[in-house]
Order: sequence, then C-alpha cells, then structure tokens
Amino acid sequence: MSSHGAPIPIMSHPCGPLKGEAHVPGDKSISHRALILGALCVGETSISGLLEGQDVLDTAKAMRAFGAEVTDLGGGRWSVHGVGVGGFMEPDQIIDCGNSGTGVRLIMGAMATCPIVATFTGDASLNKRPMARVTDPLAGFGTQAVGRSEGRLPMTIIGAKEPVPLHYEVPVPSAQVKSAVLLAGLNAPGETVVTEKEATRDHTERMLAGFGAQIRTEVTDIGRVITLQGQPELIPQHIEVPRDPSSAAFPVCAALITPGSDVLVPNIGLNPTRAGLYTTLQDMGADLGFENMREEGGEPVADLRARYSPDMHGIEVPAERAASMIDEYPVLSVVAAFATGKTHMTGVKELRVKESDRIAAMADGLRANGVTVEDGPDWWSVVGLGPDNVPGGATCASHLDHRIAMAFMVMGMGAKAPVSVDDGGPIATSFPIFESLMGSLGARLERT
Ligand code: S3P
Repeated sequence: MSSHGAPIPIMSHPCGPLKGEAHVPGDKSISHRALILGALCVGETSISGLLEGQDVLDTAKAMRAFGAEVTDLGGGRWSVHGVGVGGFMEPDQIIDCGNSGTGVRLIMGAMATCPIVATFTGDASLNKRPMARVTDPLAGFGTQAVGRSEGRLPMTIIGAKEPVPLHYEVPVPSAQVKSAVLLAGLNAPGETVVTEKEATRDHTERMLAGFGAQIRTEVTDIGRVITLQGQPELIPQHIEVPRDPSSAAFPVCAALITPGSDVLVPNIGLNPTRAGLYTTLQDMGADLGFENMREEGGEPVADLRARYSPDMHGIEVPAERAASMIDEYPVLSVVAAFATGKTHMTGVKELRVKESDRIAAMADGLRANGVTVEDGPDWWSVVGLGPDNVPGGATCASHLDHRIAMAFMVMGMGAKAPVSVDDGGPIATSFPIFESLMGSLGARLERT
C-alpha cells in the first residue's frame, strides 16, 4: 500500500536511448532542515527550490503545529516565520511524519528541550523503525519518551523543562541521530558536543553555522568532534536548496545501463559527505563526467553527464564509503547487475533499518528478475550479468520505500523484459516528478 492511498502499480518497459536534461528536485535533507531551522528563528526565512515531496510537506505541517507560520508561495518558494530557539508551542494534535525518518527524528530533537509534550506517529514503514537511537541520547538532556515496544512510534516526547547540555558519541553512523542531538542542544545552556567516528552528511552543521550558531567541527583521532554553543539567537536566512544528488542517481544510473543514452543532470550538490555513489560508479568504469564544477552557497556543485557504459565491471565498494552513499545502494545494486563480475558491498547494516530492509527488498527483487545476490547481516554482493543480459520480467514489492520502487523502475529500462513494482506511490515522498521526468528522457513507465 502506498502511504497516502491505494497502491499504484507501475511497469517499466525496456526502452530506447535516454536523452536530454534531467532537472531533479531539491535536496530532501536540506529541505527538511531549512524548514526546521527557519522555525527556530524569529523573523522570516525564505526558501527557494524546496523539495515539495510528501516527506518535506509533512515536516512543513509539523512546523505549523509547533507554532511557526509556514507559507507556500508557489514555484518551490516558501517562507517560514519562526518562533525562536526554545519557542516551540505545544501541538494540539498528533504529529504525523508520514514515511519520513529524517522528519520525525530531527523534529523530536528540535522539541526535546522545550517544555512541551508532543506525540508522533507515521505510516506503517516509519512505525517499524527504531527511535531509541534518538530518544536514548535525548534522555541525557532530561527529555522523556514513551513509545511502543523496542522504541517504536507512536511515541510521546516530554520535553526537558530545565535541559542540561550533552556530550554524546554517536554509536551508529547516522546524520539523523547527530542532527537530533545538535537541534536539542540549541536550547540547552552551555556546550553540547557530538562525536562521530565516521563522517555522515554535515548539512545540519553547515546550516546551523549559516543561521549564526557558534558551531565548530574538529577532525581528531576518534573522529569528528562537533561543538555547539547552546541558546544562540538564530538569524533568519535565505536558503537556496541545491538539487538532490540522491535523486540525480536515478537518471544517471538509468543512462549508464540503457543502450545509446546520453543524459545531462544539471546543478547537483556534490557535498563530499553525499557523493560516494559517483566515485563508486567511476571506479566501476562508468562514463560519467562532472561538467561546470563550481561552488554555490559553500557547497561543490556540478552538472553530471552520464552516457551508456557497456564496459562497467564489478568492484569491492569500500565500507568507509558507505555513509556517503547510504541511500544509493538500491540503485547501485541495479547497476551492478549490468556490470561484468561481482560487486561486493560491506559496512552496510544501516540499510536494514531504512524505509524498508533495503538489502532484503533489493535481493528479493533482483533474484526474481534473474540476478544472483548473496547477503549477510552487514554485507551483500550482486553477480553482474554484463550489459544487455539482465532478464527482468518480474514484479517486485516496494515495501513503502521510494528508493526501492525507483531502483526497480531503472532496472526495467535496461533489462530484456519489463520490470514492475506493486506500488510506486512512495516515490512521491522524495521525487514526485519521477515518472514525467524519466518519461521526458525516453523511459517507458506505465501505470498498470
Ligand atoms: C538523512 C540521513 C540518512 C539518510 C536519510 C536522510 C538526513 O539517514 O539515509 O535519507 O537527512 O539526515 P541516517 O541518519 O539514519 O543514516
């Protein structure tokens, strides 16, 4: 079932060359943060290029429930009149974050040190995901949480009345956990310090600095140590959201596996904590270029050019690269099926607690479509069949997971027979224009 209505089965037919320009939507991670940080300032934050996917719309609704004035000005432009650090009001309804782990975990952090109570829920996927990874550190500020067994939603968070700052070492590589702690630290007096062994996406740190917080990151022997001075007065900003490298992955990978393709994907943010997939594809021998490299708003940006790449080979994807491409493994595993030889991916146990168990979901669907996959708790490998050799022909379950649905749609474009998903509805959480955009390049996606 899709999260907001009846299932939408989609079939992706093998297609001719994909050609043209793919203007993908705004970055999901930055869009959530722009709304939340805007809500934590007094005054108006203006945002352009906001991703208007369901996940982000749910965060916008939540910010209104906590007292911010959030207005859709049309054309991706939004304005947020915030309530200031510590100024969140108590919502009078349950906060429904839909499918979004980022939304719920960051918002829990942002309200955890306000003297209010809020109850959170989500769809069937989100309500299975672990929240203790966030509520455990929040307890260190004095926050209480009461949820279902094993720390699942629905869950009520009782904000700390007199928060104390926290020193916390994040036990799993998670930008959501790091960000929840930093957002909670905003309303605690003194310094909150977060240490992460492996670098995860650093949008929260960069944006907090941009909004005027005192925050510094030191790279040490034990990892990255991030120190935030509590109770700043955040200053409203204008945020131009860059286009999402995780969404760009779909047209890029589709072009690599579809004979004759040549696709340009302009204006993609290539923050090094996000760009691991593109390094991996180059290591596999993909014909992938970075044109017009430049810096915008302190972030590296480039136009990606992807051409059909029949000579790709399987590789060992380094475990230390996992955090920088964590959302891209589903579509990478599809590309790996079209490469020659085995692609082995390790250090990926976080994939098992995403919108779905992404290793299991992809392994099942790849196998049903004629591809050999092996997997263990923290690793998986895909045995590539080489170009033009992937059978396809099966229907895969998307498990309420947008990236699983889109990965199998990409697979159908280069396979010998169509590939279907039982429900493409979740695609709207992060990439609402996926079907029309891919169609404009020459893909043949059909709602069945
Ligand atoms: C995100 C962090 C990642 C990622 C998610 C977005 C974020 O999750 O998978 O899509 O915006 O902070 P984890 O922090 O759980 O790794």
